[in-house]
Amino acid sequence: PLVSMKDMLNKAKAEGYAVGQFNLNNLEFTQAILLAAHEENSPVILGVSEGAARYMGGFKTVVSIVEALIEDYGITVPVAIHLDHGSSFEKCVEAIHAGFTSVMIDGSHYPLEENIALTNKVVEVAHLLGISVEAELGRIGGQEDDLVVDDAEAAYAIPSECDRLVHETNVDCFAPALGSVHGPYKGEPNLGFDRMEEVKNLTGIPLVLHGGTGIPTKDIQRAISLGTAKINVNTENQISSAARVREVLAENAEMYDPRKYLGPARDAIKETVIGKMREFGSSQKA
Ligand code: G3H
Ligand code: ZN
Repeated sequence: PLVSMKDMLNKAKAEGYAVGQFNLNNLEFTQAILLAAHEENSPVILGVSEGAARYMGGFKTVVSIVEALIEDYGITVPVAIHLDHGSSFEKCVEAIHAGFTSVMIDGSHYPLEENIALTNKVVEVAHLLGISVEAELGRIGGQEDDLVVDDAEAAYAIPSECDRLVHETNVDCFAPALGSVHGPYKGEPNLGFDRMEEVKNLTGIPLVLHGGTGIPTKDIQRAISLGTAKINVNTENQISSAARVREVLAENAEMYDPRKYLGPARDAIKETVIGKMREFGSSQKA
């Protein structure tokens, strides 16, 4: 059941729900997320950042662990292994070579033309091999010649540029920066829904919402209604598992067997992921 994201996201967009990307940090995260998907009968995207891959041993280690768990657990739901925020063409190819079924090339910090060129280079290789590709576009505040990007617009993707990037690259899904942030929000998130609708209408492909931690349910539902078919979550699982470890160790000062505190941490991640799958509407959609 290792697949690219293409079909699962097109189906999600057509049917009005979102597939969660849950980031891997270690073995327990991998177990918890796969078990949650299995129990909820939900498609799932395993997000792997370059840093997380390094921590776990490398891209090959990650793929081997995922493949072995799929077999040992008897997982039958669609699972994608996706490089999160890929930093270069080389990293994307390395991940694909190791067995990843999907990659994100994050060229959002480059000027538009360079972002398009880099994304195209990745798409060319990836699509030959049936690997899906996600791209990102955002905007830094400030002034450039006649173009002034004020504070409210800072980091928000410009819809006409999104239109160009998507149509000139043929990516499978697209993450427009529209006010979401990685990690906990300071106050309520302020997502650019008007632009999201514009981007949805211009691009027509499944949209991705990064920084899924801490976004209220009403905003999640609105984003899904505006074409968001993939929502990334990492911090929330880290918070729930760390809280569980603290609790267990505080109650058991003599405990030293890692299985006795990482097991409960794994349960906490699984519960958090199941909650997200229900909230995103992907449960029972495998
Ligand atoms: O790419 C990763 C996600 O956007 C994670 O965001 O840690 O705020 O949930 P989060
Ligand atoms: Zn992200």
